[in-house]
Amino acid sequence: MRCIKCGEKAIMELPRHNSAFCKPDYLEYFETQVARVIRRHRMFDRNDRILVGVSGGKDSLSLWHVLARMGYKAAGLHIHLGIGEYSSLSYEKALCFSRQRGLELFTVDLAKEHGMNVTELSRTLRRAPCSGCGLSKRYILNREAYERGFDTVATGHNLDDETAVLLGNILHWQIRHLARQSPVLPSTGGRLVKRVKPLFMLTERETAAYALLHGIDYIVEECPNALKAKSLLYKDALARIEAESPGAKQRFLTHFLQDAQPRLQVGADDHVLRDCVACGQPTTAELCAFCRMWRQASERAEKRKRYRETASAREMKTAGEQS
Ligand code: AMP
Ligand code: FES
Ligand code: ZN
Repeated sequence: MRCIKCGEKAIMELPRHNSAFCKPDYLEYFETQVARVIRRHRMFDRNDRILVGVSGGKDSLSLWHVLARMGYKAAGLHIHLGIGEYSSLSYEKALCFSRQRGLELFTVDLAKEHGMNVTELSRTLRRAPCSGCGLSKRYILNREAYERGFDTVATGHNLDDETAVLLGNILHWQIRHLARQSPVLPSTGGRLVKRVKPLFMLTERETAAYALLHGIDYIVEECPNALKAKSLLYKDALARIEAESPGAKQRFLTHFLQDAQPRLQVGADDHVLRDCVACGQPTTAELCAFCRMWRQASERAEKRKRYRETASAREMKTAGEQS
């Protein structure tokens, strides 16, 4: 297998593009793809301050790396979710990366801020961890970007992530979600910061190769909660289709964005955004979903505490009467 650009030995084959590259040409291919997506979708320009959501995984670290290499003003934000070993290691990788390259990293610790990590939140609410986790990540990324004066939030979502979400949304006919699924979500005013996904045309395998070739030390383990998530099933199904029909994933997403999504826009933005009465962040309701979730969690935690206190007082009283 030879590099299609220089004829040297190829190290990376890309069946969906019917091509293969040597190391320098693969790295150039990757960066050209990112630059093209940023330009074509008008994601940001040289003067914008970009806040990259950094999980410590291959996608977000590759994204931060490529943006810094291209000369963009990109800082990172890591949210410590408190999912056992996985979160400690994620934080370590993000911190190490930022220190080695002299890039600015902000951190937010969910448990320190709200008294509960993702695992405790999920137990308290009796809800799948991913739902509270996803909501918290979206909210905190936007809030931190707004409060720190960033123009754009960038995340490392790749082609596999985006096609898995698309398949899930179609299987459940989530029309509202489909209408909003886009590599660019503009700021519709107020405190809503623009959100972009510059890696959405690159696969997981491609970002992993880019990270390895640049010697980026990232967390290889998946979040333990992801094992139960449906997204893995969708990724698996799409990988089987891709193996039989290279390019199927990319066509699925690009045709959706070009041909189907514009037709879903009618009435999609009917809801008006206003400020949450508790935190001031943008919402369509009086209280935003994040504040509603944490209010419910603290009410439940308080109720359990009172229940435990009453039960132990009763036990002590019974023990006193028996002695
Ligand atoms: P995921 O939802 O885990 O697939 O991650 C998608 C993207 O969200 C990543 O590429 C990151 O840009 C961002 N992200 C995920 N986890 C974190 C985190 N703990 N802190 C900051 N950003 C994150
Ligand atoms: Fe959020 Fe796994 S990263 S539950
Ligand atoms: Zn709020």
